[in-house]
Amino acid sequence: MFSRDHVVEPFDLVIFGGTGDLARHKILPALCRRFAAGQFPEGARIIGAARTDLSPEAYRNFAREALRESAGDDVCDAAALRAFFSALDYVPLDARGERGWRELAARLDDDRRVRACFFSVGPSLFGPLAERIHRYGLATDRTRIVVEKPFGHDLKSARALNATLAAHFEERQIFRIDHYLGKETVQNLMAVRFGNMLFEPLWNSQYVDHVQITVAETVGVQGRGEYYDKAGAMRDMVQNHIMQLLCLIAMEPPARFEADAVRDEKLKVIRALDPVPPHHIVRGQYLAREGAEGQSHPDYRTAVGNPDSRTESYIALKTHISNWRWAGTPFYLRTGKRLVARSSVINVMFKKAPHSIFGVDLGEHANVLSIRLQPNEGITLLVTIKEPGPGGMRLIDVPLDMSFAEALGPQQARHPDAYERLVVDVLRGNQTLFMRGDEVEAAWAWTDPIIAGWEARGDVPKPYESGSTGPGDAEELMRRDNRKWRGIHP
Ligand code: BG6
Repeated sequence: MFSRDHVVEPFDLVIFGGTGDLARHKILPALCRRFAAGQFPEGARIIGAARTDLSPEAYRNFAREALRESAGDDVCDAAALRAFFSALDYVPLDARGERGWRELAARLDDDRRVRACFFSVGPSLFGPLAERIHRYGLATDRTRIVVEKPFGHDLKSARALNATLAAHFEERQIFRIDHYLGKETVQNLMAVRFGNMLFEPLWNSQYVDHVQITVAETVGVQGRGEYYDKAGAMRDMVQNHIMQLLCLIAMEPPARFEADAVRDEKLKVIRALDPVPPHHIVRGQYLAREGAEGQSHPDYRTAVGNPDSRTESYIALKTHISNWRWAGTPFYLRTGKRLVARSSVINVMFKKAPHSIFGVDLGEHANVLSIRLQPNEGITLLVTIKEPGPGGMRLIDVPLDMSFAEALGPQQARHPDAYERLVVDVLRGNQTLFMRGDEVEAAWAWTDPIIAGWEARGDVPKPYESGSTGPGDAEELMRRDNRKWRGIHP
């Protein structure tokens, strides 16, 4: 249970697109869990709004089903479930028409309450929704709108979306979600960096040889072929999630853990990113996999229904951050679908000791700090020691290993879903873990020329085996620099 300080004040939360996938898989289960945790007050109201004609009772059934699917009802005891369902309401509504808006306005009858509007809909509806929220008098000083990725397809469309939202709301009212920022272990990156003295003095190009950021997935396009084939790994993962990881690893210490202090520092990193030349980029597409039922799957092109697709399901690239701290330290980023394991890891690869006193070459011995974001969250520091036994000074690297689950105990190490944290932050008005408009635009400004480059050249992604670590060219990208990717382990 939460102390009074942690309970949020009474609110109205409207989920536009309330019958969609995001509401079903993420938002409703997250809300229910926060009810179960005792963080929501009596009188909280959650209103689903969508085109489908449903009664409030039918919507509660929809939510019940959604919770069952996400195992949300496991964590919610009967009393919490009752509280959650009694808070749930539904209004059929047209985002582009007038149907339902008066009914919604009648429900939202207390202007003093926090009002959170989740735009769980395609970006083409952001404008119509924002305009109607305004026109029907639903926009108060305490109204907040929450939007999901993809926030634009390129710089131009992101600018247009920002302008559309800015026509009706102030930046302090706009919450752009990147769900990676809601992950406990991603927030932990800041705790590790700025809560310890140990790492920070070494955290620069003088001591860090290079940084590897890997977000590997075993899943394919998961029925989202139409969206994915227009996006590809660069837009789907690098422009947002990996960019956020890069920022948290590379940014200067903000003076305070506050929204603008943190976001100002992240923005400086993005703006300092170098353009990426073609020979520093490897793109791939996964091949089919034969196997027992349930283990085989078609190749990427078949999965997205586009036999000529040139969209990448894998990307690896090398970039630099041109600032005082990082000049000369490359950052290697890679992500892909249908890889050997699901694993998100940041490896900070330190330089070798400057001189070997042992009369043996230090070879590849150097410290590595591995920060495992998911699964098996934890931190490993590779330390070079003497191999035990006679026969001279032989060196080996051994891990100083900490698994959060072991160190904290399974209960403490339970990670609430990212959406649980993000929903509560919206209700509290805390924007620290949300992207600011200029940040999103800066990320697109870096991404656009990279994509334009391969489109202009007509590059075709390299095929790679499903269940592998990606195309061989990605290994080559490292080999050219006398470096190696660290393995992808679950
Ligand atoms: C989403 C992408 O934003 O993140 C998906 O659109 C990807 O393609 C997903 O699979 C990965 O998120 P997570 O939380 O499973 O690492």
